[in-house]
Amino acid sequence: MILSIANQKGGVGKTTTAINLAAALAMRGKPTLLIDLDPQGNSSMSFIDIRTATKSMYDVFVDDTVHLADVIVPASLPNLSIAPARIALAKLESRLVGELDAPFRLKDEIAALKGQFANVVIDCPPALGLLTINALVASTHLLIPIQSSYFALEGTDDLLETIEKVRQRPNPELQILGVVITMHDKRTALARDIQEQIRKVFGDKVFRTVISKSVRLEESPAYRESIFTFAPESSGATEYYRLCEEVIDRA
Ligand SMILES: Nc1ncnc2c1ncn2[C@@H]1O[C@H](COP(=O)(O)OP(=O)(O)O)[C@@H](O)[C@H]1O
Ligand SMILES: [Mg+2]
Repeated sequence: MILSIANQKGGVGKTTTAINLAAALAMRGKPTLLIDLDPQGNSSMSFIDIRTATKSMYDVFVDDTVHLADVIVPASLPNLSIAPARIALAKLESRLVGELDAPFRLKDEIAALKGQFANVVIDCPPALGLLTINALVASTHLLIPIQSSYFALEGTDDLLETIEKVRQRPNPELQILGVVITMHDKRTALARDIQEQIRKVFGDKVFRTVISKSVRLEESPAYRESIFTFAPESSGATEYYRLCEEVIDRA
């Protein structure tokens, strides 16, 4: 499974979902690769000291002599590897202007790994630009985190349109695996209304598992741990474990 975690809105839980889902998949014993495509590098920093990585995804995209296999580093968790991002990735679009194969670079690089990883999880940046397109072209599946907030559904039309375009040509195989509601506060009536709204729009694409608001989920990256080792008894650990089960069932 090559799974993109995408939503062009920032702060909706993409990175939190990518790191904990990748950790959950690795903990099931399958070699798992987390590719960080966000110039902010938050998912890289959640597992490795970014200063120790000499090459990053930027080099993979712009330097023909650097391949994905060259930038992959092991995470502290067994079976988990990271392809790190750096702020330089923000310059990518301007560097690749006019290159006809630009949207296909990630797909080719993952193919060159020849199935070394059973699972690849791609953390996308908060934009629908070339990086997210590379992720969608390379992926078998897509997971969309939607934050439980008043403007939750704003912008999803643009995302769905982009997905449709990618499916028409470069990647007809791309499947929307599902939508996960994040940062849910089940005590409020508003959050319950929002959940209902999201379910009305996406129907059974919405995962049964809802990710609650949890301080533990915010804290764990600072300790370079996933929620499963940082706070194994927390709601976040239980919910991301359940989400992983649903992801595997659907894939
Ligand atoms: N379930 C949650 N409960 C509380 N805070 C969360 C939760 N999910 C994410 N966050 C926090 O919200 C912020 C944005 O989340 P993040 O995963 O980085 O979103 P994105 O990658 O979409 O920008 C981060 O500070 C993160 O720690
Ligand atoms: Mg992020």
